[in-house]
Amino acid sequence: MARDRRFLIAGNWKMNGLLKDGVDLAKAVAAGADGRKAELLVCPPATLIKSVADAVQGTAVAVGGQDSHYENEGAYTGDVSPVMLKDLGCSYVILGHSERRAYHGESDEEVKAKAEAAHAAGLVAIICVGETEQQRDAGETLPVISTQIYGSVPEGATPQNTVIAYEPVWAIGTGRTATPEQAQDVHDHIRTYGMATYGPDNWEGVRILYGGSMKPGNAAELLSQPDVDGGLIGGASLKAEDFLAIADAADALM
Ligand code: PGA
Repeated sequence: MARDRRFLIAGNWKMNGLLKDGVDLAKAVAAGADGRKAELLVCPPATLIKSVADAVQGTAVAVGGQDSHYENEGAYTGDVSPVMLKDLGCSYVILGHSERRAYHGESDEEVKAKAEAAHAAGLVAIICVGETEQQRDAGETLPVISTQIYGSVPEGATPQNTVIAYEPVWAIGTGRTATPEQAQDVHDHIRTYGMATYGPDNWEGVRILYGGSMKPGNAAELLSQPDVDGGLIGGASLKAEDFLAIADAADALM
């Protein structure tokens, strides 16, 4: 294998799908999962997790949540805890997605507490970071990313319990994608900054995913960058054919 880090192709379904759609999509993804080199993950809305986990059981598709609380139980109406996700068969959880940061006011500090709880529950935390267009235009991208990493990633992070997703906010759901060079620049920065902050042994193997309008047509060039270790895919993960085509692009590079 040419790469030390195994590609992770993760679908973030966001708030999409009723029961039948979700199960059909999960089955279609599972049907194309056999014999792959890249790891496949689907993150359905909380309402579908159990059904999706049942539908992909015994296949190579992993299941994750889209958010989880920093407590395992208690008076937190509407929230879902990491042990609950684990209980349903999840192995991953997405934390600190920019939509959660923007619409639910999640701070770095809160994301870090959630990641600690996810780790304690035995989940791999996919911690999201990314700059806004205004921050990029002001030349603040790299410092913004460092601040988010420092604030959101707990000290006990390792390649086994943590994945980072770099998702430029201006590229999410907009059809605009970072160029492979823009992505690699930030991924390289995350690698270097993380190694200095958390120690090379704890960080060199951490997978850094790109997210933001990744699709079959641009996946190969993004994934061919040395520090792009997979994708966090929104829109294109809702069609099994597109999601699997992105996984094909990853497999071809491994
Ligand atoms: P997108 O979403 O692929 O639809 O841009 C990615 C994400 O927000 O995780």
